[in-house]
Amino acid sequence: MPDRLLLRRPDDWHLHLRDGAMMQAVLPHSAARFGRALVMPNLVPPVRTAADARAYRQRILAALPHDTRFAPFMTLYLTEDTDPDEVALAHASGAALAVKLYPAGATTNSHAGVRDLDAVRPVLERMAEIGMPLCIHGEATDPDVDIFDREAVFIDRVLRPLRRRVPDLRIVLEHVTTQDGVDFVRDTPRHLAATITAHHLVLNRNALLAGGIRPHLYCNPVAKRERHRLALVEAAVSGDRRFFLGTDSAPHPDSAKLSPCGCAGLFTAPVALSVCAAIFEAARQLPRLEAFVSLNGAAFYGMAPSADRIALVRGEAWSPPAAIPCGEDRVTVFDPGFPLHWRVEESA
Ligand code: DOR
Ligand code: ZN
Repeated sequence: MPDRLLLRRPDDWHLHLRDGAMMQAVLPHSAARFGRALVMPNLVPPVRTAADARAYRQRILAALPHDTRFAPFMTLYLTEDTDPDEVALAHASGAALAVKLYPAGATTNSHAGVRDLDAVRPVLERMAEIGMPLCIHGEATDPDVDIFDREAVFIDRVLRPLRRRVPDLRIVLEHVTTQDGVDFVRDTPRHLAATITAHHLVLNRNALLAGGIRPHLYCNPVAKRERHRLALVEAAVSGDRRFFLGTDSAPHPDSAKLSPCGCAGLFTAPVALSVCAAIFEAARQLPRLEAFVSLNGAAFYGMAPSADRIALVRGEAWSPPAAIPCGEDRVTVFDPGFPLHWRVEESA
């Protein structure tokens, strides 16, 4: 087993950076490790227009530590009022790389999302024409659907029909969490990929609920049965170009996580790459790590891999900070429950 891996600098194709003080607190942790990130638009109010995306991107650039080179790519939040021309303009001008579909009510700040996909059909058709990807939070929102079935039901009720109606639309099924999702991507010959988070490679629902409820492991989509986690690991380490890392690092202050109605989201940016390396090592597939974290996503988005490289080194177990400060509050860092041996070498 090697104890040093030289990789193209990884990219994070699904990241929540928030805004203001929270962004200041979390951004350095992504920028120190990743070369590029696709930044989610679920701010309050959401990032809906090219102008919103440009302004948000400027705030991110202004908050970046001076010694880092980190390129944020932006997404637009799809609403039933989204104008196809606005989306096409945002794409053509480089203001936004993709559009994000939140089914209304599916997750954090999704209330302005989409209730009726027919209402956004003209936008989706325009995106198919211009080759702009749609990033989908793939969970059914019907309250009758069991929370552990929401991804599988969404695939059957929404994603399959959408693929038939707009077959040329390029789609990313974000943070896939089930065997059903993996199979759907594998069985679809074109225009479909999926991001996988580091935490869903580690967690099953027992980790969240057995022996006590662990609010810091609660996210959307919720972790599923072990057999689904194993399917995700198999997809990630397979080298299949349609699967790539999107951390979905989603920071919330501890005060919001540790409440009677705690919110969904895990802050994983400081440890996501180390966790992925551990998973690939355990699967004896370290040579395929670079494809998952650095190559496949860029290829899907039509970009060259990062020009620079990082070294991941294996050594003594290290402990990330348990939490980082944010104003008066703190944000807990994801703890995978096992020692981390791989880390990004500082000045590679
Ligand atoms: O757990 C999650 N947190 N899932 C999402 O889809 C949204 C995210 C957030 O923004 O907090
Ligand atoms: Zn997300």
